Amino acid sequence: MKCTIKVPAKINLSLDVVGKREDGYHLLETVMQSIDLYDIIKVSLIDLPYSKSGNIQIIADNPTFPCDSRNTCHRAAEQFIKAWQSAKKEGLIDENNQSVTNEKYNSISLETKTILIHITKNIPQAAGLAGGSADAAAVLTALNHLCGLPFTDGSLARFGSKVGADVPFCLTGGTVLCKGIGEILEPLPPLKCVPVVLVKPNFGVSTPWVFERLNINQLGKRPNTPGVVDAILEQNITELFDKTANVLESITLPAFPVLSRIKDTLLELGAVGALMSGSGPSVFGIFQTDEQAVAAVAKIKKISEFNSYTILKTDTVQNGPIRIDDVI
Ligand code: C5P
Repeated sequence: MKCTIKVPAKINLSLDVVGKREDGYHLLETVMQSIDLYDIIKVSLIDLPYSKSGNIQIIADNPTFPCDSRNTCHRAAEQFIKAWQSAKKEGLIDENNQSVTNEKYNSISLETKTILIHITKNIPQAAGLAGGSADAAAVLTALNHLCGLPFTDGSLARFGSKVGADVPFCLTGGTVLCKGIGEILEPLPPLKCVPVVLVKPNFGVSTPWVFERLNINQLGKRPNTPGVVDAILEQNITELFDKTANVLESITLPAFPVLSRIKDTLLELGAVGALMSGSGPSVFGIFQTDEQAVAAVAKIKKISEFNSYTILKTDTVQNGPIRIDDVI
């Protein structure tokens, strides 16, 4: 039994920090947007005897990729197994505390299976594009499908938020205002398909490193989040960039000055606006037309300072994880 999922990266169209929890997590108001840059995650349930390394096995096409419990796919599968085991003990219950009967779920014994996860990475890592959270969302979606859809979307989001703050968004995708630490989702009207040029430098930035340095009383330029939401309602990208900001730029940009040069370059090449995504270091620019975006990519690739960077033209999309077994 196998299920193959393609799952998109995200950019942050705005990012504000509005408080801090006692456990150190920051309370956010951020508009997240899916883009058509996909990881492919294949999950198979196979009848293999339980091995010493446990019943979750990960194979990645990138040999430097950690395949143990540091991997978000591993942690997502662990969360799913835990929820599965308690559902088997206590009965399957839906969001309204009603018990659920599900033939496929009843006929599967996950305990005797090995979960084999094959990862094809296209989303750069430690890039501010939620690659790890996207992969975790794909694993939860695939396992739920393979096991007869025992869990609701809300339950999957709950398991997912234990793996990464962006997993609930990645399970949904689209254009969403995310609050709390990322677990409160307010879907927005879809931002029409717009061309996005993404520039990911040849280094990563650690999200905890950025948040640790953030002083919530000195955030620098903050977005006007209701203004950003209105601009999306009006599909007005110029207005969006008038109102937006990413407060994490105040930490990442001074530490890596090349990021400001990337933003300036995108603007010089005609981007309506440019912003860092998440905690960085990816920077994106939104363009009026495909032609302008394609031309900008070609020009940026020729700049020697950026020639080892990942430079891509993508588009905004309105989907989260998609099953693709039928087409591959
Ligand atoms: O949950 P995730 O793995 O995405 O976050 C990595 C780290 O970033 C957290 O351990 C925390 O230090 C920081 N973080 C935060 N507030 C958030 C999201 C992440 O402080 N809302």
